[in-house]
Amino acid sequence: MTKVYVPRDMAALAVGAKRVLAAIEKEAAARGEAIQIVRNGSRGLLWLEPLVEVETPEGRIGYGNVKPSDVPSLFDAGFLRGGAHPLSIGKVEEHPYWAKQTRVTFERVGVIDPVNLDDYVAHGGGQGLAKAFEIGPAKVIEEVTKSGLRGRGGAGFPAGIKWKTVADAPADRRYVVTNADEGDSGTFADRMVMEGDPFVLIEGMTICGYAIGASKGFIYLRAEYPQCAEVLTEALEAARKAGWLGPNVRGSGFAFDIELRIGAGAYVCGEETSLLESLEGKRGIVRAKPPLPAHVGFMSRPTVVNNVLTLATAPAILAKGGEYYASLGVGRSRGTMPLQIAGNVKFGGLYETPFGLTLGEIVNDIGGGSLSGRPVRAVQCGGPLGAYVPPSLFDTPFDYEAFQKHDSLIGHGGLVVFDDTVDMAQMARFGMEFCAIESCGKCTPCRIGSTRGVETIDRIVEGVDVEANIELLSDLCHTMKFGSLCALGGFAPYPVESALRHYPEDFRKATLPAAAE
Ligand SMILES: Cc1cc2nc3c(=O)[nH]c(=O)nc-3n(C[C@H](O)[C@H](O)[C@H](O)COP(=O)(O)O)c2cc1C
Ligand code: SF4
Repeated sequence: MTKVYVPRDMAALAVGAKRVLAAIEKEAAARGEAIQIVRNGSRGLLWLEPLVEVETPEGRIGYGNVKPSDVPSLFDAGFLRGGAHPLSIGKVEEHPYWAKQTRVTFERVGVIDPVNLDDYVAHGGGQGLAKAFEIGPAKVIEEVTKSGLRGRGGAGFPAGIKWKTVADAPADRRYVVTNADEGDSGTFADRMVMEGDPFVLIEGMTICGYAIGASKGFIYLRAEYPQCAEVLTEALEAARKAGWLGPNVRGSGFAFDIELRIGAGAYVCGEETSLLESLEGKRGIVRAKPPLPAHVGFMSRPTVVNNVLTLATAPAILAKGGEYYASLGVGRSRGTMPLQIAGNVKFGGLYETPFGLTLGEIVNDIGGGSLSGRPVRAVQCGGPLGAYVPPSLFDTPFDYEAFQKHDSLIGHGGLVVFDDTVDMAQMARFGMEFCAIESCGKCTPCRIGSTRGVETIDRIVEGVDVEANIELLSDLCHTMKFGSLCALGGFAPYPVESALRHYPEDFRKATLPAAAE
């Protein structure tokens, strides 16, 4: 029976994958063709979704941007045997966007049936946990430390050190919490892992739990990801049924289970202490640090809070060895980063690659430049609190430290591209407005400062005392940066300051002679 892959990933569903599936099933039945449908995740070539694939003896042949109305002609062209058709992209694994990647965390995403444990194992799943049980908790932490893996949620804190801190903290109970709140603009890597290879997250959390001595884990999932919740629920059930979770994980004697919790829609609940408050059933307000969650976390117990990607990378590190992972990347940025290329860009999608490519290579060579065909003017890296980077800095390598040198951050690896029609004063205003809306309200620089920031930018744009107000805005940014309790208020100034620094003319339009015409 021919296997036909139709993604169940939210990005594919959003552009009609479900209708395409129905059309394929109907057409196959009408023509008496026996097919087996597999609902895979997305390969990450998002501009080609819905990307339907057919398994042939030569490999999987892809057909991109399939609409229900294309289905009869696909059957006429013999697509079940990989037949030629205008929508064919040939062998998916030979497509340059796929072939040039180094997929470690995303190794199986888009390839396997996400909720089929046998398929997971057939593609190398489970080897990391088996290795962990073989070498014991202390060596697991050593291996993760050796790999150089840093937290992929934004701050880039070394995962091995965090795990060791929790493992060493005296306590009657410890916890693992996956931060799946993924609220940054232009980011979707967590979602793609959870929808395309949920067992890798389950395995990563189990490895972490084993290493730190925790028997319970939580996935804190943003409410806006219902498709993820569905896939995770199916995968958690399958894992329990197969004995991969429960009182005796894979016959090891180690007990571990995972509970899925749905967030309530606040950006600040992605901040780890606010997340813990929310997980405990309280309003998502930031806690002062110290104490760190590693010492006093969920229910006051030592807790590892890690991003989805951090935990989902642990199985590959254990299976392939910390040294292998550390051999990829540059400087202190070891391993790979699943880049999320979004915004006004031709080839938007997920591209996993070792650290070190320049921003220009990512935006122009991989992303293909702007979708509009106009010159790229700015790229916002690292979410809504990240800086705007102009083309003059496109030679910056994608590396935590190199970005920091320019007062920018790589954060969770999201890149949002803008062409030359963007108004950077409005983007700066959006940064402050976002902060005002999402502020948890605990501290004054963020709660009040962001609102004053919006008002000040409005005055600048209207041409009122422009230079004096720009100075006031810079002063306000300084106060927010150094006076805020957490990184929401502390980083909101970065998009504003970078816009002021790199695009000063956009703040002075009202006073330029052309404005009077
Ligand atoms: C306002 C704010 C929002 C955040 N949102 C997220 C998020 O959605 N996902 C995430 O993993 N980390 C987020 N973080 C970072 C977390 O606080 C924390 O550093 C991270 O979950 C630790 O995991 P890691 O070490 O694996 O990166 C956010 C931080 C701030 C200040
Ligand atoms: S900076 Fe903003 S979000 Fe963070 S604690 Fe202060 S008010 Fe809350």
